Amino acid sequence: MLLTVTDIRNLAPGIWQITLGGEFPYETVKSGQFIMIRIGSSREHILRRPLSIAAVTRENTTIVFRVVGQGTKWLSERQVGDQVDVLGPLGRGFPNPPADAKVLIVGGGLGVPPLYLLGKTIQSETAKVDIVLGFRTEQDCILTSELSRLGHLVVTTDDGSLGMRGTVIDAVANLHRSGRSWEYVYACGPLPMLRRLKEYFSDQDVKGYVSLEEHMACGVGACHGCVCPSEDGSLARRICINGPVFPWNEVSL
Ligand SMILES: Cc1cc2nc3c(=O)[nH]c(=O)nc-3n(C[C@H](O)[C@H](O)[C@H](O)COP(=O)(O)OP(=O)(O)OC[C@H]3O[C@@H](n4cnc5c(N)ncnc54)[C@H](O)[C@@H]3O)c2cc1C
Ligand code: FES
Repeated sequence: MLLTVTDIRNLAPGIWQITLGGEFPYETVKSGQFIMIRIGSSREHILRRPLSIAAVTRENTTIVFRVVGQGTKWLSERQVGDQVDVLGPLGRGFPNPPADAKVLIVGGGLGVPPLYLLGKTIQSETAKVDIVLGFRTEQDCILTSELSRLGHLVVTTDDGSLGMRGTVIDAVANLHRSGRSWEYVYACGPLPMLRRLKEYFSDQDVKGYVSLEEHMACGVGACHGCVCPSEDGSLARRICINGPVFPWNEVSL
């Protein structure tokens, strides 16, 4: 479907936010789902690019992305009024926690955008939400003021330029030591971060959900280009249709 760019803004060096309006099933969107965007109008870029849905209203949807190659560069050059060819919403999103559950949300870098929609979605379920976001440096920090309205927020940076110096795992351990505990953990970010988070909670009775990323060709389960192994190594899961969100005990990280 063709959506129209209604807003585009630069959030940080190399990081852009685009809002798209037009005919789209906004009311069916679940946090953690993504869209596939066609790049350019020629046949030069055959593969669409997957981007998480960061926010949604009744009339528009927002994505936040880093420019890493030709596709995201093309997207960052769109202007208000331009049309973009979009497929979605796709994939399996984050399940809601039960009412009043104690929730921890952990995001790293460009894993943060889908967690904003998650935080907004679970607002009506629980107010017991801790959020830990990690970035390389202050200038990479995105959506921190938005997420600070949705729970108790701790920011970490690798170089200590904003918030706590260290990793999100250090911050989670600090919170834990200070007496916080959680029943549900939701995370999106680099694979090593997700792996360490799962390990950290391995001896605790906590339900965890991780959103995974992989190169995607079709986005709809047809090409098997996005598989990841299941926890016992027996089954390959397709991230585009079985995920991108998985219970962390279902996948090998
Ligand atoms: C479900 C899903 C949700 C995503 N959500 C976001 C998001 O919200 N914001 C965001 O900035 N990015 C997100 N990504 C990553 C994004 O899809 C890629 O950065 C984008 O496709 C790169 O396209 P390009 O043409 O600019 O770069 P390319 O020229 O295709 O690649 C440039 C570099 O990025 C790497 N790359 C490309 N695709 C991926 C990928 N899927 N995972 C890891 N590395 C990749 C390539 O290996 C290469 O090093 C998501 C990916 C998936 C699978
Ligand atoms: S991207 Fe084709 S099966 Fe997942």
